[in-house]
Amino acid sequence: MDADTAARPAVAPEPARKPLRVLAIANQKGGVGKTTTAINLGTALAAVGESVLLIDSDPQGNASTGLGIARSARKVTMYEVYMGEKTLEQAAIQTVLPGLDLAASDPDLSGLEMELAASPRRSYRLRDALSALRNTGKYSYVLIDCPPSLNLLTVNAMTGADAVFVPLQTEFFALEGLTQLMRTIELVRGSLNPALEIQGVVLTMYDRRNSLSEQVARDVRQHFGDTVYDTVIPRNVRVSEAPSYGKPVLIYDLKCAGSQAYLQLAREVVRRERDRRASKSK
Ligand SMILES: Nc1ncnc2c1ncn2[C@@H]1O[C@H](COP(=O)(O)OP(=O)(O)OP(=O)(O)O)[C@@H](O)[C@H]1O
Ligand SMILES: [Mg+2]
Repeated sequence: MDADTAARPAVAPEPARKPLRVLAIANQKGGVGKTTTAINLGTALAAVGESVLLIDSDPQGNASTGLGIARSARKVTMYEVYMGEKTLEQAAIQTVLPGLDLAASDPDLSGLEMELAASPRRSYRLRDALSALRNTGKYSYVLIDCPPSLNLLTVNAMTGADAVFVPLQTEFFALEGLTQLMRTIELVRGSLNPALEIQGVVLTMYDRRNSLSEQVARDVRQHFGDTVYDTVIPRNVRVSEAPSYGKPVLIYDLKCAGSQAYLQLAREVVRRERDRRASKSK
């Protein structure tokens, strides 16, 4: 030890702050698996060691109900966060799974568009709330479950997010409507959030017994290339049963094909994220 080092007071090193990745799970098409992916990718990410906040930004509140968070337990909701009255940290509720918190929805979110009509920075409400959260280093992933619309809630999610994560139902009309989604992403990039990226596209409700699924998957991969995850989420009845028990499918039935697929997806998301960071820092 040299004299210089010895003279320095011993200061405990600050714990390394986790880099945060905020993903808006969006597709204006209804019923494509946004909420199912938000709940189960969130759970699987927590299971592989990430710390996750799931933001339920849909007035339907399916992610909140699907995680078994009763209305009475939703003391602070996303409504107060959007109104600038509370922070995301105050809204975060612990779920049964360590490493996964939820910021719950409120039916009043459906009136937000009108309530904020004349407000300045109305598209930045979530971004402002997230910037306070980024300073805490508490989470490594934030997943935002968006409603099936390109409304103010979805625009807020895209403005606050680092990237958009697109679940695509493996069906004949899969690519239909994606032009609108891509145009919205371009619009947000052009004004509200120039840094917005597309994190990836995940095929959901894939049916192995149906040759159409295979054809659709091929078309989607041809259209989006590497943006599409290798992991495909199969249609699996356990996945659709789990929310009625207020549980992620990984807790309801860890061994089923749906749970295993979401675990594989989480590993792929983490691996791709590591690669993305490594190539950025070069
Ligand atoms: N892999 C799957 N296997 C079987 N059923 C699934 C699967 N993924 C989703 N579902 C079912 O499909 C329906 C729609 O899924 P989900 O609610 O996740 O879609 P969404 O895009 O969030 O819908 P919305 O647009 O209304 O918010 C639900 O009943 C859900 O249980
Ligand atoms: Mg939903």
